Amino acid sequence: MVTEAIEAGRGARRRSRFIVVGSGKGGTGKTFLAANLAIQWSLWGKRVVLVDADLGLANLHVVLGLDPEAHVMALLQSRRSRNGQGRELLVPGPAGVQLLPGGSGVEHLASLNRSELRRLVQRLEPCLDDFDVVVVDLSAGISKSTLLFLSAAAEILLVSNPDPSAILDAYAVIKVLSHSSIQERRVHLIMNRVRDVVAANHAGSRILATTEKHLQQQVKMLGLVPEDDAVAISMARRQPFLLDRPNSPAAGAIRSVARRLLSSDGADARASTTAFFARSAELLAPRRRAPSR
Ligand SMILES: Nc1ncnc2c1ncn2[C@@H]1O[C@H](COP(=O)(O)OP(=O)(O)O)[C@@H](O)[C@H]1O
Ligand SMILES: [Mg+2]
Repeated sequence: MVTEAIEAGRGARRRSRFIVVGSGKGGTGKTFLAANLAIQWSLWGKRVVLVDADLGLANLHVVLGLDPEAHVMALLQSRRSRNGQGRELLVPGPAGVQLLPGGSGVEHLASLNRSELRRLVQRLEPCLDDFDVVVVDLSAGISKSTLLFLSAAAEILLVSNPDPSAILDAYAVIKVLSHSSIQERRVHLIMNRVRDVVAANHAGSRILATTEKHLQQQVKMLGLVPEDDAVAISMARRQPFLLDRPNSPAAGAIRSVARRLLSSDGADARASTTAFFARSAELLAPRRRAPSR
C-alpha cells in the first residue's frame, strides 16, 4: 500500500518524455516503428501520444487502422488558441495509444513558414501535457518543420536501413544536427528491415565510428529489427503489427528496442516535453530586424 502510494506520487511528478523519430532517407520504417513502439509502451502502462508530424503526407493513422476526421491543420486554422484547444483532435487508437493526426495530401502543411510553424508548435503544447511519452513521427529529410523537431528534441530515434544510401543519409542528418546548439543530445540508431545481421551491425558501427570521429555527436546503437513478411500481411489487414503478430521476429525485436529505450536514462529535464517546447519557442522566436542606419 505504502509502496503503491509512493509509486503513484512519483508518477504524478514524472516528467513526460519527448522522443522524435527521424531518418535521412524515406521509407526506412519510421512510421512503422513509431506506431509499434508507442503501442508497446502503452501495453506496459505508459500514457502515450503519437504526433504525426509528417505534416503533408501523414500516414500514422493508416498504420494504426484509424480514420480520423480532423488533423493538425485545425490547430492552425482557428483564430485564437483557447486553453485545452486541440485536445479534441486526439483520436484513441489501439492499446490505448492516442494519435494527433497529421494531414495527408495537404500541400500547405508540408511547407509551413516560420510564423505558421510557431503558431502550430504553441498550440501543440497544451494537447500533449497529459502523457508520459510523446512520440513524434517525422518526414524524411530536413524540411523546415522536420528540422525544427530534430533541432529542439533532446532525444532522437534515427531509423536507417543497412543499405549504403540510407546509411549516408542518416549520417547527413546527424551532421546537420551537430551544427545546432543542444548539448548532449541523445541519438539512438535503429537498423530496420535487416536481412543480414552481420552486415547491418557492420553498417551501424560505421555510422557510430564516423560520427564520433568527425562530429561532436555520440550515437548509440539501440538495436536491429529484421525484415519480416508479416508486416505487409498486417498492413493489408489494417491491423497494428504488434497486436496482430506479437510472436513474429520483428515484434520481438521491437519489444527489446522499446524496453531498452524506456530503461535508458532519458527521463531527465532536457528530454522532457516542456524542455522541447521551450527550445522550439527559442528557435522560432520572431527575428529582430537589424537596426536601420
Ligand atoms: N521490419 C520491417 N519488415 C518489413 N516491412 C517493413 C519493416 N519496417 C517497415 N516496413 C515497411 O516498409 C514500408 C515503409 O515503412 P514506413 O514506416 O512507412 O517508412 P517511413 O515512415 O520511414 O517512410 C512500409 O510499407 C512498412 O510496412
Ligand atoms: Mg513515415
